[in-house]
Amino acid sequence: MTEAIWQSAEVDALYRLAAAGVRVPTPHNFLEGVLLMDLVTDANGDAAPRLNDVMFSPEDAHRHHASLLKEVMRMLCAGIVHGDLSEFNVLLAEDGPVIIDLPQAVDAAGNNHARRMLLRDVENLRNFFGQFAPALLGTHYGDEIWQLYERGLLRPETELTGTFVRESGPVDLGNVMREVNDAREEEAARRLRMQTPRQ
Ligand SMILES: Nc1ncnc2c1ncn2[C@@H]1O[C@H](COP(=O)(O)OP(=O)(O)OP(=O)(O)O)[C@@H](O)[C@H]1O
Ligand SMILES: [Mg+2]
Repeated sequence: MTEAIWQSAEVDALYRLAAAGVRVPTPHNFLEGVLLMDLVTDANGDAAPRLNDVMFSPEDAHRHHASLLKEVMRMLCAGIVHGDLSEFNVLLAEDGPVIIDLPQAVDAAGNNHARRMLLRDVENLRNFFGQFAPALLGTHYGDEIWQLYERGLLRPETELTGTFVRESGPVDLGNVMREVNDAREEEAARRLRMQTPRQ
């Protein structure tokens, strides 16, 4: 076991998430650079299937989607974005979904890509469960979760609406005009480029 492994992002994230009550396999120990964790099992005691190997009724799809969003919120409240969350990295244990595979986990506050990764994680869940419950496909929970997080308002128990309303303060006309002008200039520059014969 080396120091570098102890300090690896995956191990760190696993311990932090377990401590925050996120449904991840319980970590036990390191042996020769290998992290020992609980085997996640199904009702028969066999290794639990990944979500992508399971079919869901619409009701179950809604239920698991909602509970995984709660896990995403709990992770973010613990300062972590999974970064590779999808039907391939969630196991369906007897008592519900368990999240695995954390090497890409990032620090929510200190990483420029955290927002993008969170949005993708949430989109992956929506698109997967949306196959079984199409009503989910119109939801935008990622933006809502990130906005609450940024404002310091996110709690694991926060009730989400599934609709995202952008800032609706007074419209800054100057800003709008600048954007319109930028777009015009870009278009003009593009035309110029097209007219200029390549040498
Ligand atoms: N704690 C666990 N309990 C049961 N099965 C597990 C556990 N951890 C991992 N697995 C199984 O091993 C597979 C690979 O684990 P993981 O996703 O963490 O590794 P990976 O290197 O990303 O591999 P992959 O490319 O398959 O995702 C999982 O999809 C799952 O089937
Ligand atoms: Mg994996």
